[in-house]
Amino acid sequence: MAKLQLSKVNKHFDKNQVLKEISFEVEEGEFFVLVGPSGCGKSTILRMIAGLEEVSTGEIYLDGVLINHFPSKQRDVAMVFQNYALYPHFTVFENLAFPLKLRGYSKEEIRLRVCETADILGLGGLLQRKPKALSGGERQRVALGRAIVRKPKLFLFDEPLSNLDALLRVQMRGELLKLHKSLKTSVVYVTHDQLEAMTLGDRCLVLKEGTIQQIGAPFELYSSPSNIFVASFIGTPSMNLLKGILISSLEFTFGDRSRLSLPGKFEEDLKAYAGREICLGIRPEDVRIAGKSQNLKFELEQIEPVGAEAFLYFKAGDQKLVTRERFYENLHPGIFSELSFNLDKALFFDLKTGENIFKLRIDNR
Ligand SMILES: Nc1ncnc2c1ncn2[C@@H]1O[C@H](COP(=O)(O)OP(=O)(O)OP(=O)(O)O)[C@@H](O)[C@H]1O
Ligand SMILES: [Mg+2]
Repeated sequence: MAKLQLSKVNKHFDKNQVLKEISFEVEEGEFFVLVGPSGCGKSTILRMIAGLEEVSTGEIYLDGVLINHFPSKQRDVAMVFQNYALYPHFTVFENLAFPLKLRGYSKEEIRLRVCETADILGLGGLLQRKPKALSGGERQRVALGRAIVRKPKLFLFDEPLSNLDALLRVQMRGELLKLHKSLKTSVVYVTHDQLEAMTLGDRCLVLKEGTIQQIGAPFELYSSPSNIFVASFIGTPSMNLLKGILISSLEFTFGDRSRLSLPGKFEEDLKAYAGREICLGIRPEDVRIAGKSQNLKFELEQIEPVGAEAFLYFKAGDQKLVTRERFYENLHPGIFSELSFNLDKALFFDLKTGENIFKLRIDNR
Protein backbone atom coordinates (compact mmCIF):
# COMPACT_ATOMS: atom_id res chain seq x y z
CA MET A 1 0.00 0.00 0.00
CA ALA A 2 1.23 3.49 -0.84
CA LYS A 3 2.50 5.60 2.01
CA LEU A 4 0.61 8.69 0.92
CA GLN A 5 -2.28 8.79 -1.47
CA LEU A 6 -4.19 11.74 -2.85
CA SER A 7 -7.36 10.88 -4.67
CA LYS A 8 -9.19 13.41 -6.87
CA VAL A 9 -8.34 16.33 -4.61
CA ASN A 10 -9.81 19.70 -5.59
CA LYS A 11 -9.20 23.02 -3.90
CA HIS A 12 -11.16 26.25 -4.22
CA PHE A 13 -10.39 29.57 -2.61
CA ASP A 14 -13.84 31.18 -2.84
CA LYS A 15 -14.78 30.80 -6.50
CA ASN A 16 -11.23 30.34 -7.65
CA GLN A 17 -10.31 26.68 -8.27
CA VAL A 18 -6.55 26.39 -7.73
CA LEU A 19 -6.21 22.58 -7.82
CA LYS A 20 -8.06 20.25 -10.15
CA GLU A 21 -8.47 16.49 -9.65
CA ILE A 22 -5.08 15.92 -8.08
CA SER A 23 -4.34 12.19 -7.69
CA PHE A 24 -0.96 10.64 -6.94
CA GLU A 25 0.68 8.10 -4.68
CA VAL A 26 3.98 8.29 -2.84
CA GLU A 27 5.54 4.94 -2.03
CA GLU A 28 7.22 3.98 1.23
CA GLY A 29 10.68 5.57 1.30
CA GLU A 30 10.19 7.49 -1.94
CA PHE A 31 11.55 10.98 -2.62
CA PHE A 32 8.65 12.57 -4.51
CA VAL A 33 8.97 16.07 -5.97
CA LEU A 34 6.19 18.52 -6.88
CA VAL A 35 7.53 20.93 -9.48
CA GLY A 36 5.95 23.75 -11.46
CA PRO A 37 5.99 27.50 -11.99
CA SER A 38 5.10 30.03 -9.32
CA GLY A 39 1.43 30.03 -8.33
CA CYS A 40 0.60 26.60 -9.82
CA GLY A 41 -0.53 25.21 -6.44
CA LYS A 42 2.48 23.30 -5.07
CA SER A 43 2.43 24.77 -1.56
CA THR A 44 -1.32 24.38 -1.36
CA ILE A 45 -0.97 20.62 -1.99
CA LEU A 46 1.69 20.39 0.71
CA ARG A 47 -0.35 22.42 3.18
CA MET A 48 -3.36 20.17 2.61
CA ILE A 49 -1.24 17.09 3.34
CA ALA A 50 0.07 18.78 6.50
CA GLY A 51 -3.44 19.74 7.61
CA LEU A 52 -2.80 23.47 7.40
CA GLU A 53 -5.39 23.85 4.65
CA GLU A 54 -8.65 21.94 4.10
CA VAL A 55 -9.36 20.06 0.89
CA SER A 56 -12.50 21.20 -0.93
CA THR A 57 -13.26 17.70 -2.25
CA GLY A 58 -11.27 14.47 -2.52
CA GLU A 59 -9.35 12.24 -0.12
CA ILE A 60 -5.92 12.12 1.43
CA TYR A 61 -4.68 8.83 2.93
CA LEU A 62 -1.56 8.29 5.01
CA ASP A 63 -0.65 4.62 5.55
CA GLY A 64 -4.09 3.73 4.24
CA VAL A 65 -5.91 5.89 6.82
CA LEU A 66 -8.14 8.73 5.62
CA ILE A 67 -6.66 11.83 7.25
CA ASN A 68 -8.77 14.60 5.65
CA HIS A 69 -10.30 15.60 8.92
CA PHE A 70 -7.36 14.94 11.23
CA PRO A 71 -5.98 18.10 12.79
CA SER A 72 -2.43 18.88 11.79
CA LYS A 73 -0.95 17.60 15.07
CA GLN A 74 -2.41 14.12 14.62
CA ARG A 75 -0.98 13.56 11.15
CA ASP A 76 2.56 12.62 12.13
CA VAL A 77 4.09 14.59 9.26
CA ALA A 78 6.85 17.19 9.60
CA MET A 79 7.09 20.22 7.37
CA VAL A 80 10.15 22.33 6.56
CA PHE A 81 9.56 25.75 5.04
CA GLN A 82 11.63 28.07 2.90
CA ASN A 83 12.12 30.58 5.75
CA TYR A 84 13.43 28.25 8.40
CA ALA A 85 11.19 29.76 11.11
CA LEU A 86 13.60 28.99 13.96
CA TYR A 87 12.92 30.48 17.37
CA PRO A 88 15.47 33.32 17.62
CA HIS A 89 15.74 33.32 21.43
CA PHE A 90 16.27 29.57 21.66
CA THR A 91 19.64 27.88 21.24
CA VAL A 92 20.05 25.22 18.56
CA PHE A 93 19.53 22.58 21.27
CA GLU A 94 16.29 24.21 22.42
CA ASN A 95 15.08 24.64 18.85
CA LEU A 96 15.60 20.94 18.22
CA ALA A 97 14.08 19.97 21.56
CA PHE A 98 10.96 22.07 21.13
CA PRO A 99 8.83 19.69 19.02
CA LEU A 100 9.62 16.88 21.47
CA LYS A 101 8.76 18.98 24.52
CA LEU A 102 5.41 19.81 22.94
CA ARG A 103 4.71 16.11 22.68
CA GLY A 104 5.65 15.40 26.29
CA TYR A 105 8.90 13.45 25.83
CA SER A 106 11.05 12.92 28.94
CA LYS A 107 14.16 15.05 29.46
CA GLU A 108 16.43 12.07 28.89
CA GLU A 109 14.67 11.01 25.70
CA ILE A 110 14.85 14.59 24.42
CA ARG A 111 18.59 14.78 25.11
CA LEU A 112 19.20 11.48 23.33
CA ARG A 113 17.14 12.37 20.27
CA VAL A 114 18.58 15.88 19.95
CA CYS A 115 22.15 14.56 20.14
CA GLU A 116 21.39 11.82 17.63
CA THR A 117 19.87 14.38 15.22
CA ALA A 118 22.75 16.83 15.74
CA ASP A 119 25.17 14.01 14.89
CA ILE A 120 23.36 13.13 11.67
CA LEU A 121 23.37 16.76 10.54
CA GLY A 122 26.81 17.75 11.83
CA LEU A 123 25.38 20.25 14.31
CA GLY A 124 27.14 18.82 17.37
CA GLY A 125 29.41 21.82 17.89
CA LEU A 126 26.62 24.37 17.49
CA LEU A 127 24.07 23.23 20.04
CA GLN A 128 24.56 26.18 22.40
CA ARG A 129 24.44 28.88 19.70
CA LYS A 130 21.44 31.04 18.85
CA PRO A 131 20.18 31.17 15.24
CA LYS A 132 21.58 34.62 14.56
CA ALA A 133 25.09 33.24 15.15
CA LEU A 134 24.64 30.61 12.40
CA SER A 135 25.23 30.74 8.65
CA GLY A 136 22.29 30.25 6.27
CA GLY A 137 23.27 26.66 5.61
CA GLU A 138 23.58 25.90 9.31
CA ARG A 139 20.16 27.44 10.00
CA GLN A 140 18.67 25.34 7.28
CA ARG A 141 20.22 22.26 8.83
CA VAL A 142 18.68 23.13 12.19
CA ALA A 143 15.30 23.50 10.46
CA LEU A 144 15.79 20.04 8.94
CA GLY A 145 16.86 18.76 12.33
CA ARG A 146 13.67 20.02 13.90
CA ALA A 147 11.73 17.97 11.36
CA ILE A 148 13.72 14.73 11.68
CA VAL A 149 14.06 14.77 15.47
CA ARG A 150 10.44 13.59 15.76
CA LYS A 151 10.89 10.67 13.37
CA PRO A 152 7.64 11.41 11.55
CA LYS A 153 5.98 9.15 8.98
CA LEU A 154 6.44 11.69 6.22
CA PHE A 155 8.53 14.78 5.49
CA LEU A 156 7.08 17.74 3.65
CA PHE A 157 9.60 20.21 2.27
CA ASP A 158 8.48 23.52 0.76
CA GLU A 159 11.39 25.03 -1.20
CA PRO A 160 13.74 24.52 1.76
CA LEU A 161 16.86 25.51 -0.17
CA SER A 162 15.70 28.60 -2.02
CA ASN A 163 17.15 31.05 0.54
CA LEU A 164 20.65 29.64 0.12
CA ASP A 165 23.27 30.78 -2.37
CA ALA A 166 23.87 28.63 -5.45
CA LEU A 167 26.90 26.75 -4.14
CA LEU A 168 25.35 25.98 -0.78
CA ARG A 169 22.17 24.87 -2.49
CA VAL A 170 24.07 22.25 -4.47
CA GLN A 171 25.86 21.12 -1.31
CA MET A 172 22.61 20.89 0.67
CA ARG A 173 21.00 18.95 -2.16
CA GLY A 174 23.69 16.32 -1.71
CA GLU A 175 23.17 16.34 2.05
CA LEU A 176 19.42 15.95 1.66
CA LEU A 177 19.91 12.92 -0.55
CA LYS A 178 22.31 11.37 1.95
CA LEU A 179 19.91 12.09 4.78
CA HIS A 180 17.04 10.53 2.88
CA LYS A 181 19.12 7.46 2.14
CA SER A 182 19.90 6.90 5.79
CA LEU A 183 16.46 7.75 7.23
CA LYS A 184 14.42 6.13 4.44
CA THR A 185 11.41 8.26 5.35
CA SER A 186 9.09 9.22 2.48
CA VAL A 187 9.46 12.80 1.30
CA VAL A 188 7.22 15.17 -0.63
CA TYR A 189 9.43 18.01 -1.81
CA VAL A 190 8.24 21.21 -3.48
CA THR A 191 10.35 23.31 -5.81
CA HIS A 192 9.89 25.57 -8.82
CA ASP A 193 13.41 24.67 -9.97
CA GLN A 194 13.33 21.87 -12.53
CA LEU A 195 17.02 21.08 -12.04
CA GLU A 196 16.50 20.60 -8.31
CA ALA A 197 13.51 18.37 -9.08
CA MET A 198 15.51 16.28 -11.54
CA THR A 199 18.49 15.81 -9.20
CA LEU A 200 16.49 14.99 -6.07
CA GLY A 201 13.37 13.15 -7.16
CA ASP A 202 12.87 9.42 -7.48
CA ARG A 203 9.78 10.63 -9.29
CA CYS A 204 8.48 14.11 -10.06
CA LEU A 205 5.00 15.48 -10.59
CA VAL A 206 4.86 18.43 -12.99
CA LEU A 207 2.05 20.83 -12.15
CA LYS A 208 0.69 23.71 -14.23
CA GLU A 209 -2.17 25.96 -13.14
CA GLY A 210 -3.42 23.39 -10.66
CA THR A 211 -3.47 20.50 -13.14
CA ILE A 212 -1.12 17.51 -13.26
CA GLN A 213 0.84 17.47 -16.51
CA GLN A 214 2.92 14.34 -15.95
CA ILE A 215 4.24 12.08 -13.20
CA GLY A 216 7.45 10.17 -13.84
CA ALA A 217 11.11 9.51 -13.13
CA PRO A 218 13.35 12.45 -14.06
CA PHE A 219 14.70 10.78 -17.19
CA GLU A 220 11.20 9.90 -18.32
CA LEU A 221 10.13 13.55 -18.08
CA TYR A 222 13.21 14.57 -20.02
CA SER A 223 13.06 12.00 -22.79
CA SER A 224 9.30 11.44 -23.08
CA PRO A 225 7.53 14.63 -22.00
CA SER A 226 3.77 14.20 -22.25
CA ASN A 227 3.15 17.62 -23.78
CA ILE A 228 4.74 20.88 -24.94
CA PHE A 229 4.61 22.38 -21.46
CA VAL A 230 6.65 19.58 -19.85
CA ALA A 231 8.98 19.49 -22.87
CA SER A 232 9.91 23.14 -22.48
CA PHE A 233 9.78 23.26 -18.66
CA ILE A 234 12.20 20.37 -18.08
CA GLY A 235 15.79 20.83 -19.28
CA THR A 236 18.14 23.83 -19.69
CA PRO A 237 18.32 25.28 -22.26
CA SER A 238 14.76 24.38 -23.21
CA MET A 239 13.89 21.92 -25.92
CA ASN A 240 13.77 23.49 -29.40
CA LEU A 241 10.23 23.60 -30.70
CA LEU A 242 9.83 24.03 -34.44
CA LYS A 243 6.38 24.79 -35.80
CA GLY A 244 5.96 23.49 -39.32
CA ILE A 245 3.98 21.36 -41.75
CA LEU A 246 4.11 17.62 -41.96
CA ILE A 247 4.06 17.24 -45.73
CA SER A 248 3.91 13.49 -45.44
CA SER A 249 4.72 11.09 -42.61
CA LEU A 250 8.29 11.13 -43.90
CA GLU A 251 8.82 14.84 -44.49
CA PHE A 252 8.58 17.93 -42.32
CA THR A 253 9.04 21.52 -43.47
CA PHE A 254 9.52 24.63 -41.34
CA GLY A 255 10.76 28.21 -41.54
CA ASP A 256 11.28 29.62 -45.03
CA ARG A 257 12.00 26.40 -46.83
CA SER A 258 13.86 24.08 -44.50
CA ARG A 259 12.95 20.47 -45.15
CA LEU A 260 13.69 17.43 -43.07
CA SER A 261 13.44 13.80 -44.14
CA LEU A 262 12.09 11.90 -41.16
CA PRO A 263 13.15 8.40 -40.08
CA GLY A 264 10.82 5.62 -41.21
CA LYS A 265 10.25 4.54 -37.60
CA PHE A 266 7.90 7.52 -37.06
CA GLU A 267 5.74 6.79 -40.09
CA GLU A 268 3.03 4.84 -38.27
CA ASP A 269 2.58 7.52 -35.57
CA LEU A 270 2.69 10.48 -37.91
CA LYS A 271 0.36 9.12 -40.62
CA ALA A 272 -2.72 10.70 -39.11
CA TYR A 273 -1.05 14.11 -39.08
CA ALA A 274 0.08 14.23 -42.73
CA GLY A 275 -0.75 17.60 -44.30
CA ARG A 276 -1.21 19.25 -40.90
CA GLU A 277 0.69 21.82 -38.94
CA ILE A 278 2.55 20.22 -36.02
CA CYS A 279 5.45 20.97 -33.74
CA LEU A 280 8.78 19.14 -33.85
CA GLY A 281 10.72 19.07 -30.59
CA ILE A 282 14.45 18.49 -30.44
CA ARG A 283 16.83 18.86 -27.48
CA PRO A 284 19.82 21.23 -27.86
CA GLU A 285 22.26 18.30 -27.58
CA ASP A 286 20.57 16.61 -30.54
CA VAL A 287 21.41 19.51 -32.85
CA ARG A 288 25.00 19.62 -34.11
CA ILE A 289 26.93 22.21 -36.07
CA ALA A 290 28.81 19.50 -37.92
CA GLY A 291 27.69 16.17 -39.28
CA LYS A 292 25.39 14.89 -41.98
CA SER A 293 24.20 17.82 -44.05
CA GLN A 294 20.45 18.39 -44.05
CA ASN A 295 20.75 21.77 -45.76
CA LEU A 296 19.77 23.68 -42.66
CA LYS A 297 21.58 27.02 -42.68
CA PHE A 298 21.31 29.06 -39.52
CA GLU A 299 22.90 32.33 -38.42
CA LEU A 300 24.71 32.29 -35.07
CA GLU A 301 23.31 35.14 -32.94
CA GLN A 302 24.83 34.62 -29.52
CA ILE A 303 27.34 32.44 -27.67
CA GLU A 304 26.78 31.76 -23.97
CA PRO A 305 29.78 29.98 -22.42
CA VAL A 306 28.91 27.90 -19.34
CA GLY A 307 32.26 26.36 -18.49
CA ALA A 308 32.96 23.07 -20.26
CA GLU A 309 30.57 23.96 -23.07
CA ALA A 310 28.60 26.83 -24.56
CA PHE A 311 24.99 27.35 -25.52
CA LEU A 312 24.82 28.61 -29.10
CA TYR A 313 21.75 30.59 -30.14
CA PHE A 314 20.89 30.45 -33.84
CA LYS A 315 18.16 31.90 -36.02
CA ALA A 316 16.81 31.43 -39.51
CA GLY A 317 13.99 33.83 -40.34
CA ASP A 318 11.57 33.70 -37.38
CA GLN A 319 12.90 30.37 -36.22
CA LYS A 320 15.20 30.40 -33.19
CA LEU A 321 17.24 27.41 -32.16
CA VAL A 322 19.73 26.58 -29.42
CA THR A 323 22.48 23.96 -29.36
CA ARG A 324 25.15 23.03 -26.83
CA GLU A 325 28.71 22.55 -28.04
CA ARG A 326 32.01 21.75 -26.35
CA PHE A 327 34.17 23.23 -29.07
CA TYR A 328 33.15 26.78 -29.86
CA GLU A 329 36.39 28.80 -29.76
CA ASN A 330 36.41 29.40 -33.51
CA LEU A 331 32.80 30.52 -33.71
CA HIS A 332 31.50 34.07 -33.48
CA PRO A 333 28.12 35.75 -33.86
CA GLY A 334 27.18 36.57 -37.45
CA ILE A 335 28.52 33.42 -39.09
CA PHE A 336 26.23 30.98 -40.87
CA SER A 337 26.38 27.33 -39.86
CA GLU A 338 25.02 24.11 -41.27
CA LEU A 339 23.09 22.42 -38.52
CA SER A 340 22.19 18.77 -38.45
CA PHE A 341 19.46 17.21 -36.33
CA ASN A 342 19.64 13.80 -34.73
CA LEU A 343 16.10 13.04 -35.82
CA ASP A 344 16.01 9.66 -34.11
CA LYS A 345 15.53 11.70 -30.92
CA ALA A 346 12.89 14.06 -32.33
CA LEU A 347 9.47 14.34 -30.70
CA PHE A 348 6.26 15.58 -32.28
CA PHE A 349 3.46 17.52 -30.65
CA ASP A 350 -0.14 18.09 -31.65
CA LEU A 351 -0.39 21.86 -32.00
CA LYS A 352 -4.05 22.01 -30.96
CA THR A 353 -3.76 20.05 -27.73
CA GLY A 354 -0.03 20.34 -27.06
CA GLU A 355 0.07 16.56 -26.50
CA ASN A 356 3.07 14.43 -27.44
CA ILE A 357 1.92 12.46 -30.49
CA PHE A 358 3.93 9.39 -29.43
CA LYS A 359 2.40 9.53 -25.97
CA LEU A 360 -1.11 9.35 -27.45
CA ARG A 361 -0.14 6.02 -28.96
CA ILE A 362 1.29 4.76 -25.67
CA ASP A 363 -1.86 5.81 -23.78
CA ASN A 364 -4.18 4.21 -26.31
CA ARG A 365 -2.56 0.81 -26.15
N1 LIG B 1 -5.28 31.61 1.29
C1 LIG B 1 -5.46 31.85 -0.01
N2 LIG B 1 -6.51 32.53 -0.46
C2 LIG B 1 -6.73 32.76 -1.78
N3 LIG B 1 -5.92 32.31 -2.75
C3 LIG B 1 -4.83 31.61 -2.38
C4 LIG B 1 -4.54 31.33 -1.00
N4 LIG B 1 -3.39 30.61 -0.94
C5 LIG B 1 -3.00 30.45 -2.21
N5 LIG B 1 -3.84 31.03 -3.08
C6 LIG B 1 -3.73 31.03 -4.55
O1 LIG B 1 -3.63 29.69 -4.96
C7 LIG B 1 -2.73 29.55 -6.04
C8 LIG B 1 -1.66 28.53 -5.70
O2 LIG B 1 -0.85 29.03 -4.65
P1 LIG B 1 0.40 28.22 -4.07
O3 LIG B 1 0.94 29.01 -2.95
O4 LIG B 1 -0.03 26.84 -3.79
O5 LIG B 1 1.38 28.26 -5.32
P2 LIG B 1 2.89 27.72 -5.44
O6 LIG B 1 2.90 26.76 -6.58
O7 LIG B 1 3.35 27.22 -4.12
O8 LIG B 1 3.69 29.03 -5.87
P3 LIG B 1 5.18 29.52 -5.46
O9 LIG B 1 6.13 28.73 -6.31
O10 LIG B 1 5.14 30.97 -5.85
O11 LIG B 1 5.36 29.30 -4.00
C9 LIG B 1 -2.19 30.94 -6.31
O12 LIG B 1 -2.90 31.50 -7.38
C10 LIG B 1 -2.47 31.70 -5.03
O13 LIG B 1 -2.69 33.05 -5.29
MG1 LIG C 1 4.85 27.87 -2.78
